Amino acid sequence: MKTTVLTFRKMKRQGEKISMLTCYDYTTARLMDGTVDGILVGDSYGNTMLGYDSTLPVTMDHLIAATQGVVRGCKESLVVFDMPFMSYQVSVEQALENAGRALKETGCQAVKLEGGASVCPQIAALSHAGIPVVAHIGLTPQSVNALGGNRVQGKTGEEAERLIEDARKVEEAGAFAVVLECIPAPVAERISREVNIPTIGIGAGAGCDGQILVYQDMLGMNEDFKPKFVKRYAALAEEMRSAFREYTADVKGGRFPEASHQFEMSSEEELKKLY
Ligand code: KIV
Ligand code: NA
Repeated sequence: MKTTVLTFRKMKRQGEKISMLTCYDYTTARLMDGTVDGILVGDSYGNTMLGYDSTLPVTMDHLIAATQGVVRGCKESLVVFDMPFMSYQVSVEQALENAGRALKETGCQAVKLEGGASVCPQIAALSHAGIPVVAHIGLTPQSVNALGGNRVQGKTGEEAERLIEDARKVEEAGAFAVVLECIPAPVAERISREVNIPTIGIGAGAGCDGQILVYQDMLGMNEDFKPKFVKRYAALAEEMRSAFREYTADVKGGRFPEASHQFEMSSEEELKKLY
């Protein structure tokens, strides 16, 4: 059964934790579908798929193509499109046009955008237009230059109060969920208690209503990236590399392909014509 925004609301009400991962392609989506409640086609695409050191260069076209693949692979999990940098900040009209494009061209069910009070006009307009919105506060990587780096947010009482206020405001504007990224666990716990919409944490502790991770991080595909908040559920980097190496050794050693991997002529007669 397809997970919807109503399912998310119900899970929060019933105290059932919400699990989410990022995903950027059809093949992975088919494997992930139904194993998690929600899938985010994150603008972390810039890092994981394109090798940039920030999410700033990611475009609507990048994430439209990626989300089309993910949606085709997804029958159950809720699919959220992550609005890229400068696809919604310019104006409410710009946000409506781009979020509308995301829903029309990909078949995703919701969009996510970064920011608290400052993007509430956009959140309200999208919600009124029938486009479900996930907000995202705390560490907002699209503001890396303004924040002076990717660092934990809300470590002082004053900053924490601002985050709590932002969470209240995005709920009031109509967001159906909010991502809390890299904030102290007690702050995330307090926000999760104070708002009625589910909080989805990443680096925000166990008090959140749900969790999200970047899938390459939790599968251990990225050996030189292991932030404190990531738990590895597999060691795919080594598994993949050793498969690639074994393949090359087989090719060079004449062990691949074998007879079972080859095609034959349609009959002995046809074969004889070759010689
Ligand atoms: O782009 C992304 O992967 C995200 C999640 C980490 C929340 O925004
Ligand atoms: Na993102």
